[in-house]
Amino acid sequence: MVELRVGLLGLGTIGTGVARILIEQKELISRRLGKRVTLVAAADRDLTRDRGLDFTGVRLCDDANAIVTADDIDLVVELIGGYEPARTFVAAALASGKHVVTANKALIAKHGEELFPLAAEKGLQIGFEAAVGGGIPCMKALREGLAANAIDSVYGILNGTCNFILTKMENEGANYADVLKEAQALGYAEADPTFDVEGIDTAQKLSILAAMAFGSKIRFEEVFTEGISRITAADIQAAHEMGYRIKLLGIAKPHGANGQVDAVEMRVHPTLVSLSSQMAQVSDSYNAVQISGDFVEHTMYFGRGAGERPTASAVVADIMDITSGFPGGITHLAPPMGFVESSRREMPTMPMADALCEYYIRLMVQDQPGVIAAVTSILADHRISLEALIQKERHASHNVPIVMLTHETTEGNMQAAISRITALDAVQEDALILRKESAVV
Ligand SMILES: NC(=O)c1ccc[n+]([C@@H]2O[C@H](COP(=O)([O-])OP(=O)(O)OC[C@H]3O[C@@H](n4cnc5c(N)ncnc54)[C@H](OP(=O)(O)O)[C@@H]3O)[C@@H](O)[C@H]2O)c1
Repeated sequence: MVELRVGLLGLGTIGTGVARILIEQKELISRRLGKRVTLVAAADRDLTRDRGLDFTGVRLCDDANAIVTADDIDLVVELIGGYEPARTFVAAALASGKHVVTANKALIAKHGEELFPLAAEKGLQIGFEAAVGGGIPCMKALREGLAANAIDSVYGILNGTCNFILTKMENEGANYADVLKEAQALGYAEADPTFDVEGIDTAQKLSILAAMAFGSKIRFEEVFTEGISRITAADIQAAHEMGYRIKLLGIAKPHGANGQVDAVEMRVHPTLVSLSSQMAQVSDSYNAVQISGDFVEHTMYFGRGAGERPTASAVVADIMDITSGFPGGITHLAPPMGFVESSRREMPTMPMADALCEYYIRLMVQDQPGVIAAVTSILADHRISLEALIQKERHASHNVPIVMLTHETTEGNMQAAISRITALDAVQEDALILRKESAVV
């Protein structure tokens, strides 16, 4: 029976999960492929930790280089994470003729554009399904199942930590800081949660999805990114009263004319979605991705976006895809980014000031006559019309929160209006603006 020999870098959470599947599901994998996938070797800095697995027959070592250059390995799985030395190991594995599978979104978002050509030149594959949406096969759907479509939009809840925090804040009326502490105690949030709660992790994933959707190059640094740390329980409640739920969404849309994409809009921010939408039902640490195409219309993918078992499931699916063409090459597979490398284009990122959005505005103002009139008059100057305005109960400080929903305007216009509103004497703290998306199903 044909055999594909796997070398694993990193036996942490996901690496252990991948080893578990390759050992425990060996028979199932062989029956599905008619070929054998064998874990030949694994490297980790700490080999003393009990991982609850029988590694008999697997060469364990603490030197990842020994795996990357070994003659008896056909495919390297990179699960150490981070930029370096992951990038060096992946480049070296490709240089020595080995396919690569990784779950490392940071690596693909930052260095994917150097690695894809290396793989293409050698007729090798890079699999990274687990890097976006954990166990959800959303990139396989985009690359294969939806390949006949020009993609109109991508919307995703791509970070389980943020979704867990927002869900708990809503269910318990709790404030952000308390729920973050609880999420840290439960292991859902890191000791330094910045990467998750400020939207950076979502931006990395969105940049990969957008490039795959529109045939563009990955431009992670250009994604407009705002996190969830300024959201209060009162915002969640006010949004709910107006028929919306707040989710941290990654949003990507193409812009251009006559079917030609000239610019890509990419933004990550807390977003109001209708309470009746599918996206609003995605709670706790679950992820979901909505991809819409010109022929298929709306499609939606839902599941666990992280964790040992779901993420390892996606890693092993990539290994199995590569195995199905092995040893004859990968001509049966769609290219890693869904477009042949030579047809992928540099496309500018649309400036955020040009983005068209509807807005939620929260202001804290002094309770005195004429303040609301002054605020709405500035909005009218900027041709921003209101869909709703709620004045909440007066605080002990004699300040009153006002919440407004606006119709569509550009981000640039809204920012200009907000800076004038914030300069009014009666406005007591910086306004919070959130964006609303009606196209989420
Ligand atoms: N955890 C998730 O739910 C999840 C979900 C989707 C994607 N991912 C991605 O999957 C990758 C792995 O994540 P993880 O959660 O499994 O991380 P992890 O638990 O920290 O595992 C990484 C392992 O690699 C080892 N390692 C680091 N540098 C090494 C080196 N130079 N040589 C040998 N071993 C080395 C680490 O050892 P030390 O502990 O000694 O550093 C650790 O055991 C990351 O790219 C992550 O973004 C994770």
